[in-house]
Amino acid sequence: NYYAILMAGGVGSRFWPVSTEEFPKQFHDMLGTGDTLIQKTFNRLAKLIPRENIFILTNERYNDLVFEQLPTVTKRQVVLEPAMRNTAPCILYASLKIQKENPDAIMIVAPSDHWIEDETTFSNNVKQAFDFCSSNDALMTLGIQPTFPNTGYGYIEFDKTTSNDIKSVNQFREKPDYETAKEFISQGNFLWNAGIFMWSVKSVVAAFQNNQPVLYELFKSGLPKYNTDLEYDFIQENYAKSENISVDYAIMETSINVYVIAAEFDWNDLGTWGSLYDKLDKDTNGNAVVNTRTLTEDASGNMIRTANNKIVVVDGLQDYIIVDKEDVLLIYPKSKEQDIKKVLQKVKGKF
Ligand code: GDD
Ligand code: MG
Repeated sequence: NYYAILMAGGVGSRFWPVSTEEFPKQFHDMLGTGDTLIQKTFNRLAKLIPRENIFILTNERYNDLVFEQLPTVTKRQVVLEPAMRNTAPCILYASLKIQKENPDAIMIVAPSDHWIEDETTFSNNVKQAFDFCSSNDALMTLGIQPTFPNTGYGYIEFDKTTSNDIKSVNQFREKPDYETAKEFISQGNFLWNAGIFMWSVKSVVAAFQNNQPVLYELFKSGLPKYNTDLEYDFIQENYAKSENISVDYAIMETSINVYVIAAEFDWNDLGTWGSLYDKLDKDTNGNAVVNTRTLTEDASGNMIRTANNKIVVVDGLQDYIIVDKEDVLLIYPKSKEQDIKKVLQKVKGKF
């Protein structure tokens, strides 16, 4: 009865120039391990879920990338979106599709671009959650111990009165402002939302029905058969009408049956070059190097990645991102990594 929804429709613009709209980060081997991020995620999930029950939701322009990189996947498992509408519409549509096939399904919803090294512990945490969802009407998420007031994450206030691994959630707050995030962290019973959700298909569909009736009606009515032209037309038509909203705002903030398990594995959402730098092995000077042969002198804390295993010489440079592709070279301070998104817009305007 186990199913998975793998969300792979994002663009990863802070990883420009490697990640682009045509070829986003989840389809790249960002870690230099030989596997792309989506391949790593698919294989991690396949240890828990029958391969044929893993559904991939992505933009239609990534159709070829998905089938090239995941050759065992069939058309039935891939939902192609005509437009980006964030995660709520894609999760609702995939859940309805799975519900038709198996009304007793227990599911995990996972992003395709995270770093999780300890797969055994990951599997154990997910199994624990699956057991709980099988017998409770619960929306479950994995929580990460916060280390600083990051405003790019969801925050989960858990009930401290229970010593169980599975804790009831008092409040889920998506992307609070800096002051609020600081206040949350100081209280001690807040976790970051890892963005990995587990629930029964019944519970998630009910959550959409109760909290997002408009979205629910849009996708529920006239749900077509798999894999037909009708399905294609249905998605085209309804995505155009659909609100752009993430699952966090759509159901997690508003539901009362939310539960969390504190993740016991290391997690990184690989959102920026700096977060990738943190996870990579470093040379003796503290530079992280991918696909590159480097000679570094008086250079440390740099994130260096090139196309074609180029030789790179760096001297007198600290804490920079040095990344190239055939047609682009980026040399940018790590401290301003969040601005790469904006820089990309400027570049697009100019060239
Ligand atoms: N199919 C599809 N369609 N996938 C999408 C779309 C879409 O329109 N938009 C985003 N995704 C995918 C992304 O590729 C990513 O794998 C995942 O959905 C999450 O989207 P993000 O855009 O990366 O979300 P976020 O990082 O702002 O916030 C979420 O993740 C945080 C942890 O990394 C939230 O769940 C936060 O609460 C959480 O803390
Ligand atoms: Mg993210």
